[in-house]
Amino acid sequence: MKVLLLGEIVGRCGIGVIKKALRPYRQEHGVDLVIANGEGATSGYGLGFQNALTLQHMGIDVMTMGEKSFFKLDMVEGITKRSSILRPANYPESVPGRGLRYMTVGERKVCIINTLGMFSFSNPHLNNPFLTAESMVEKARTETPIVIYVFHAAATAEKIAMGQLLAGKASAVIGTHCKVLTADARILEGGTAYITDLGRCGASVSVGGFELEHEVRKFRTQVQTRSHESWDKPQMQGVLVEIDDVSGKAVSITAVREDVSVEIPPQTSKKPE
Ligand SMILES: [Fe+2]
Repeated sequence: MKVLLLGEIVGRCGIGVIKKALRPYRQEHGVDLVIANGEGATSGYGLGFQNALTLQHMGIDVMTMGEKSFFKLDMVEGITKRSSILRPANYPESVPGRGLRYMTVGERKVCIINTLGMFSFSNPHLNNPFLTAESMVEKARTETPIVIYVFHAAATAEKIAMGQLLAGKASAVIGTHCKVLTADARILEGGTAYITDLGRCGASVSVGGFELEHEVRKFRTQVQTRSHESWDKPQMQGVLVEIDDVSGKAVSITAVREDVSVEIPPQTSKKPE
């Protein structure tokens, strides 16, 4: 089967990228399943429930999240209504939603797991993602050989270590959060597709999807003002992974970096003041 994993969708530009590019790409490449990180789709900070529905309507089958899972408060209830939206599995059990999903894609059963890393996040009550991953992946493999593990983490070392821990156990170990498409997509020993970070869907010339000059000014002055969405050179970034249906082992992993022409809405300047 072919799985397209897309980097964090950032703001209206990111949603515009998905609207324009996803269906044609899916058709051209015979993609069976689309997974994307959606936690920045609503203005770069969280995912509003309506935006989640819109993105699913545009062809995203499963949305993973991260430390911004509940930045938009309607997702607290919204996530309980949609099994296709995953919050990190290593959040406390009492947190709404779930971090694992089994689904049927054609004739195959697929398991998707989402967890959050330990570094750089102010979530002191997370369970250790490595221990969580080991037990969840082991259990999932008793149900299906096709297990896709999405690790939302800030530290490169943490993601590489997770890849090694799950090499030969998961079909794919895929990093998100940094919004920079890394050049290390490869198949690990044992047939596990791996990449440190999927990059983003949104403005490629930006700081994480936000307007360059404004972000530079924030770093220079230390004055934290609201970021502006960027519309500069939109791209769809991620990876296309081919997985053997029977063994669950990855056959190939290819980086995706497609320029997309997105219409800028009226009254939105390219470089806001
Ligand atoms: Fe994040």
